[in-house]
Amino acid sequence: MKVPFYDIKAQYTELAAETDAAVHAVISGGAYVMGPNHNALEAEIAARQGCKHGIAVNSGTDALRILMDAVGIGQGDEVITTAFTFVASAETIVQTGARPVFVDIDPITFQIDPAKIEAAITPRTKAILPIHLFGQMCDMTAVKAIADRHEILVLEDAAQAIDSTQHGVPAGSIGIGAGFSFYVTKNLGAAGDAGLIVTNDDELAQRCRSIRVHGMGRERYYYDHIGYTSRMDEVQAAVLRVKLTKLTEWNARRAAFAARYFQELADSDLRLPATLAGNHHTWHQFTVATPERDALQAHLRANEVDSMIYYPVPLHFHEPYARFADGRGSLPVTEEVSREVLSLPIHPHLSAEQVQFAASVVREFTSSRIHAAS
Ligand SMILES: Cc1ncc(COP(=O)(O)O)c(C=O)c1O
Repeated sequence: MKVPFYDIKAQYTELAAETDAAVHAVISGGAYVMGPNHNALEAEIAARQGCKHGIAVNSGTDALRILMDAVGIGQGDEVITTAFTFVASAETIVQTGARPVFVDIDPITFQIDPAKIEAAITPRTKAILPIHLFGQMCDMTAVKAIADRHEILVLEDAAQAIDSTQHGVPAGSIGIGAGFSFYVTKNLGAAGDAGLIVTNDDELAQRCRSIRVHGMGRERYYYDHIGYTSRMDEVQAAVLRVKLTKLTEWNARRAAFAARYFQELADSDLRLPATLAGNHHTWHQFTVATPERDALQAHLRANEVDSMIYYPVPLHFHEPYARFADGRGSLPVTEEVSREVLSLPIHPHLSAEQVQFAASVVREFTSSRIHAAS
């Protein structure tokens, strides 16, 4: 039985009639840029994430970049984040002229370790950019308390965390602003690139809206900022609005598959995902850890079960980012976790049988090693 890691076509098939109608309405209607779907999506996502403003942009990367520009992060500033993330988190910091300061992660949750943040704060620290990795929020109570104590900003990289909450508070609503990604493979994925900024700050929202369109002010062809061209296409907004109607159900399917994995793998010696207290996890990834990760992946591959490694190489091991850390060994937890993690298929278009099969292949691997060792 093949178990694919993603099945984008199955997502489309489930909503084919609605998607085709929505896309056709955009193409035939002629409102291609910042049309009614774009505006409605901004309001819908903002409300969902407990925020006053939503600013649709053309990727999660641009959401972070525009947010950073809008809060004034730039040359000479430092932004605290982690090296166990998708490159965009640090890339956007570097693009502003600021310096990413990598702190280590928690070995159990893989999220930023709040206990490591304070030692990394200097007079140049402008912000913390925590990443809500794999579908659950990092410890925002701790992060926010540290930031408030030192009067620095919190920007949330919520690219992987739509609909995630902590003690009932949605991702994106605690920091001054947050960036979401709707890249194809996210829990809510467009038919291409798309992203969105949320904030409760009126002035910041206005700046983001301006920077998204060349820094244009309230009047056309008058410029208040240096900006970009980063609008979300109306076609993408239309597709996203159709998929949004299914997001709660799709996330529930992910949660059911996570429960199945927990049940089936409880006796294995894998490190299973840990959910922080108070978190509603949306299971963007189901990520296990074992020192024998590569052998486990080979065993899965031999049985046609796909898996992915997020992330195999910590950011400070890549040449362009090496200058922002003290070399190999400087972030020991990040480095160990990068060697050991493996994500199992958990997308909502799997069948219960496929998840059961994937779990049984993992179990076969772990129990054969336990027997070999005894
Ligand atoms: C943690 C994280 N940050 C930022 C991004 C960037 O989003 P996008 O791919 O939409 O530019 C992603 C998505 O891949 C991500 O996973």
